Order: sequence, then structure tokens, then C-alpha cells
Amino acid sequence: KKPAGAPDKALARKVTKVGVVGAGLMASQLALLFARRLEVPVVLTDLDQARLDKGVGYVRAEVDKLLAKGRVSADQAGRLRALVSGSLTKDAFADADFVIEAVFEDLDVKRKVLAEVEAVVSDECVLATNTSSLSITAMASGLRRPERVVGFHFFNPVAVMPLLEIVRGDATDDATLATAFSVAKTLKKSSVLVKDAPAFVVNRLLTRFMGEITAAADEGTPLEVADHALDGLGLPMTPFTLLQLVGPAVALHVAETMHAAFPERYGVSGNLATLVAAGKPGVYGSDFQIDPE
Ligand code: CAA
Repeated sequence: KKPAGAPDKALARKVTKVGVVGAGLMASQLALLFARRLEVPVVLTDLDQARLDKGVGYVRAEVDKLLAKGRVSADQAGRLRALVSGSLTKDAFADADFVIEAVFEDLDVKRKVLAEVEAVVSDECVLATNTSSLSITAMASGLRRPERVVGFHFFNPVAVMPLLEIVRGDATDDATLATAFSVAKTLKKSSVLVKDAPAFVVNRLLTRFMGEITAAADEGTPLEVADHALDGLGLPMTPFTLLQLVGPAVALHVAETMHAAFPERYGVSGNLATLVAAGKPGVYGSDFQIDPE
């Protein structure tokens, strides 16, 4: 069934090579997904060799797991390993048809990265962004061809979560959108077309959910108590485990974006801000339950 709002699929362009900007948690999961489902070369770029090695290393380790579980054959595993490579320069994207960025959640950083990519790719190359909450229209403005930019928002863990939010910016054209839907289908994701609004649709809800559980802990309910209070509802994981999976820095960023857009509806947890500022990796075992008073 054609997803609501998807343009005519005849407009979609063929994708024969994919570029991924960033080699962090989301980016490396995306590289594996694209290589596995599209079966085309995927190049990751990042700022230094150590990050690149970590990203490519993640893909290799996940391929080993898929092989051990019998999800891919030895031949497929070999092909997957060969399809994913790392490069320190974006020149490697010159012949890519689809580039997705998954770098730090900062509008200026993302605009700079997209401008750098645009300088090397063809006019037809789609530029997708995995932003969780930033404006696609703002990100595209200033580019030579803003019509090629589209939001492509995945959920963690990328290999498992079926949902994909596709976001149309003010300038996004039908060919770009059709290509995005066609890629999403090949990735076997259920895509929904959402409006370019702060945090789109899903993170508006999730941020309220996270906001209330962190507020409960901020107000003095011990973290473990707040976290397990919902056990009986049968959620797939506890809220603080989910917060950890998403990443405290990403969750804080989305909360701040929503607070800026709708101050009366979204708060920012003092404990979460303190945790992220201190660079603490984990929620559990942190000082999260301290009373801000
Ligand atoms: N990477 C790859 N595969 C993973 C994985 C990961 N990080 N975590 C789990 N899996 C796989 C497992 O390998 C397993 O696969 P097999 O069936 O092939 O063995 C499968 O998922 C199920 O895993 P488990 O049996 O270990 O555990 P589970 O049944 O509890 O499921 C879960 C794990 C799917 C993560 C589940 O707990 C869940 O759905 N959690 C909620 C996740 C969620 O809400 N994500 C959205 C976050 S919001 C976001 O990302 C957006 C944003 O912008 C902030």
C-alpha cells in the first residue's frame, strides 16, 4: 500500500551507492542497514581514523553476529563486509546517489556538513538527515539545491525498530521524496510522512514520556523506583533503559529543542543536564536521583 502523501514512485531515482556522514552509534547502524538491504557500497566518513575504525568495526562485529545466528550466509557476510568502508574525506561520496548525515545534533554543524557534501556530489544526489528534532527547512536553507534535502529519522536499535519518519521540508521536491520512500521500502521500514515541526511526531510524545519520568526522579522519587513503576504495563524496556539506549545527550538535546519551541509543555530535567554536562556515560549509578534542592 502506498504510504499517505508519498509521491508517484516513478519519480524515484535509483540508488547505487550510499554515503553516511558520521561513524557514531546511529551512523554505523545505518551503514549496516543500507548495505544489507540495498546491497550497494556504503562509505562512512568521520573526523578522525579512530572514529572511523570504531564505526566500521561495529559493522564487522554485527555481521559476525548475524552470521553466528544464521541470519546471513558466509557468502552474504563476506559481501556485506566488503560493501562497507570508511573514508576520511567526503570525496568518497562523489558517485553516491544518496547521502545520509548522522552527526552531532546541532543545526550549524549539520548545515556545514551538508554544504560540504553538496560540494562533491552530483546534482541528483539526495541528502538525507537523521536528525531527531531539528528543522529540515532550516537545515536545507543556504544549500545550492535545498530541494534535495529530506528528513529520514530512524529509531534505536535501527536493525530492529520498523518505524521511519520521512520529513518533507518546505523546499523538498517530489523526486527526492519519491526516492526516500523507495529507499525506505527496500530497507523494509514502515515509513510515515510527517510535517517539518520540532521533533516531528514520535519524539514529541517520547520527549513528554521521558520528561515526566526524569521529572519524577528530579522531584525525589529514587531513580530505580520511578524506572520500575511502569513494569506492569508491559513496555519492552524500562524508561531509563530506553533513555540510556537513546543516549542521554541526544535525549537532552531533544528536550531542550522542545522546551525552546513549547516552554509551557516541555521541561528539561536538571539531573539529565547535570549528567550530560559531567560527561557521565550511564544513567544508572549516576547522581541522577539527587534532589536538585
Ligand atoms: N542492535 C541490533 N540488534 C539488536 C539490538 C541492537 N542494539 N538490540 C536488540 N537487538 C535484536 C536482538 O539481537 C534480537 O534479535 P534476534 O531476534 O535476531 O536474536 C532482537 O533484537 C530482540 O532482542 P532481545 O531478545 O535481546 O530483547 P527484547 O525482546 O527485549 O527487544 C528491543 C529489544 C527491541 C530493543 C526492545 O526492548 C524495544 O523495542 N525497546 C524499545 C526501543 C525503542 O522504543 N526505541 C525507540 C527509541 S527513540 C529513538 O531512537 C529516536 C530518537 O530520535 C531519540
